[in-house]
Amino acid sequence: MTYLSTDNVENHFHDVVIIGSGGAGMRCALQLADAGHRVAIVTKVLPTRSHTVAAQGGINASLGNVLSDHWHWHMYDTVKGSDYLGDQDAIEYMCRAAPRIVRELEHQGVTFSRLENGTIYQRAFGGQSREFGEGGQALRTCAAADRTGHAILHTLYQQNLRAGTHFYQEFFALDLITDQDGCHGVMAWDIANGTYHLFQAKAVILATGGAGRVFKTTTNAHICTGDGGALVLDAGLPVEDMEFFQFHPTGIADIGPLITEGVRGEGGYLLNAEGERFMERYAPTAKDLASRDVVSRAIALEIRAGRGCGPNKDYVLLKLDHLGEELIMKRLPNIHELALRFAGVDCTKEPIPVQPTMHYTMGGIPTNYHTEVVYTDGDDTEKVCGGLYAIGEAACVSVHGANRLGGNSLLEIVVFGHACGERVNAFLKQRRYHPPLDKDCWKKAVARVEKWFHSTDREDGPRVSDVRKRMQTIMQDHFSVYRTEDVMREGVEQIEAVAKELKQARMDDACRLFNTELVEALELENLMGLARVTAAGALARTESRGAHARDDYPDRDDQLWQKHTLAKIGESGVELDYKPVRTQPMTVASFPPKKRVY
Ligand code: FUM
Repeated sequence: MTYLSTDNVENHFHDVVIIGSGGAGMRCALQLADAGHRVAIVTKVLPTRSHTVAAQGGINASLGNVLSDHWHWHMYDTVKGSDYLGDQDAIEYMCRAAPRIVRELEHQGVTFSRLENGTIYQRAFGGQSREFGEGGQALRTCAAADRTGHAILHTLYQQNLRAGTHFYQEFFALDLITDQDGCHGVMAWDIANGTYHLFQAKAVILATGGAGRVFKTTTNAHICTGDGGALVLDAGLPVEDMEFFQFHPTGIADIGPLITEGVRGEGGYLLNAEGERFMERYAPTAKDLASRDVVSRAIALEIRAGRGCGPNKDYVLLKLDHLGEELIMKRLPNIHELALRFAGVDCTKEPIPVQPTMHYTMGGIPTNYHTEVVYTDGDDTEKVCGGLYAIGEAACVSVHGANRLGGNSLLEIVVFGHACGERVNAFLKQRRYHPPLDKDCWKKAVARVEKWFHSTDREDGPRVSDVRKRMQTIMQDHFSVYRTEDVMREGVEQIEAVAKELKQARMDDACRLFNTELVEALELENLMGLARVTAAGALARTESRGAHARDDYPDRDDQLWQKHTLAKIGESGVELDYKPVRTQPMTVASFPPKKRVY
């Protein structure tokens, strides 16, 4: 094979390589490029197509532009929303930083919507309160109409162009280069021209986004395939809390595109087939603005009770026409367009059919709040993997615990993107040179790709796209909003079987230029490892907490389960371990677990 020599691997040297060009990667890159470092972003897409662009409703910060607010109330809501699985030091760090980081975004050029007095517009979102739940609904979510992620991503991209960040776009990351001292680079495949590249770096930052495509119906783009988590698993490191996938209450029925929580924040509400505002029964105070796990479960129960709408009684209706055309076109123009295009509904006149849809990966690569990747080595002491960092949805820092609050995702990416930039800037003062690498360090990555080209010589074996569909269907059917022992056990067996099938799968397309079938095969390998650890972690957790709701264990069990799951893939399959939740914040008193009502 011509490709099995170093002559075919192009070398690149950077101070820092960031994998992923969403908001987290871009915010981090900006910090480091502005500090004078030679920064590369390696991304499998064109940067402005990263999934941050799809974030709609807004970013949380206790600016108090409409009603008085405080970061400590934001922290309380986030800890409660996480169902007490979030790490309170990281949550305090994020909520305290929020007002500063959002004002900074404004100064960088983000086109936030405005109040009459010129300050940033803030709307209501789910699970938000004032005065530690005693002061009613907060207005904390800063919005650029319903295209907030779009506004943030484009601004950060422009700022990075100004700062001189190097973009390697349409490059697929294949393998982390690690040794006993940590991480020193990454091997990648240039999708467009089919060449191999070794990126040597003093620090590597994983900012690859979520893994929503593990499921069949999701608000996530096709690119959300958990690539960073998979690289970490492949390097023998664990991922954390992967059993917690968030179902957003309002994906467009059957197909999944997101209808922002901002609709309910502006005064929209849910109706069942009997025309009843059913959320009043499930969350008497917050109603439609209870946290997402609560609203998704309520919809699932209405459907189960036969009160769903449509011929199959499998969705509910989101009514917003009473808000009036003027408000809808000003605050929710994207929703108007999405509902028209994907559901054939003019939402200024009719309600939108919606159902809970997989939306967000709460778990991910374990980090501390400095964004360093951490692991335990059979004992309870946490160790840092030198030179390796993770941020954004790819990471589990863990500020969302078992359930994320809407508007905290955009916040997390900019707060921890910034924090990572600061930390790496300090680290680069110690790691000043690129260490010599093992001369064979490129081989594993090359073998990973070449085996797929070899598979084109075979006529037997399943096709990649068929294996992917089977995996997504198993996950959807066995690990959805409600889970039970029998259904999950069957799901674990089926996922293990389909993972074996993937090893026999073949590709049809042998072309080395822009081979999208190859990209899908590599993405499926990434998804498969994450599906396996999700399934095993979910089956093992015998309680209900946040997004992990079990019919057979309906209560939260803090005695046994207020702990994080760590999962690795070893020779004999998925290996589970656990570590304690960090219940001690940085400067304030801990919020101890209590019954979670809205
Ligand atoms: O509903 C939404 O606009 C989604 C926001 C989020 O996931 O934070």
